[in-house]
Amino acid sequence: MIRVGIVTASDQGSRGEREDRSGPVIREAVQAIDGVVVAYRVVPDEREILAATLRDMADALKTDLIFTTGGTGFSSRDVTPEATLDVVERLTPGIAEAMRAESLKVTNRAMLSRAVAGIRGQTLIVNLPGSPKAVKECLAVILPALPHGIEILKGEARECAQPEK
Ligand code: MTE
Repeated sequence: MIRVGIVTASDQGSRGEREDRSGPVIREAVQAIDGVVVAYRVVPDEREILAATLRDMADALKTDLIFTTGGTGFSSRDVTPEATLDVVERLTPGIAEAMRAESLKVTNRAMLSRAVAGIRGQTLIVNLPGSPKAVKECLAVILPALPHGIEILKGEARECAQPEK
């Protein structure tokens, strides 16, 4: 089982003025990797609040994997990558690179996502874009590779070799 946290960054969502449709998409998708959502929060696009939420989910709730959704674009309120960089200790650039590379095949606007990913302690934190469609597309790319990374992070995997095809 993978302990998953979801953080939806949305000013309107945090005020109850907008339904979060991306959080439920993540909740459903992680079932494919034996993920169980143990924490879910909708917070305003505030760097400090986002960073504190990520710290809490990683350190106190001991999540293995946190997905953020929203706040990766160009608006002055889009600060999810900055909040994530405030809390991670090591970057995992390949995850964001893979999402952008594959997403570019769907829309050239994928290059507008400033998403980052990184590791805090034994928790992997990954930024996803805000729209449910984008979330679905990005998760389809990265989810299959994540369990192995999490196993290594937790010291449970011995080797990276995959059976030859
Ligand atoms: N990635 C995928 N796979 N599909 C999409 O439709 N939309 C893009 C991009 N990434 C998109 C995508 C758009 S339009 C923007 S503005 C950025 O993500 C940032 O989105 P956010 O501000 O909702 O986080």
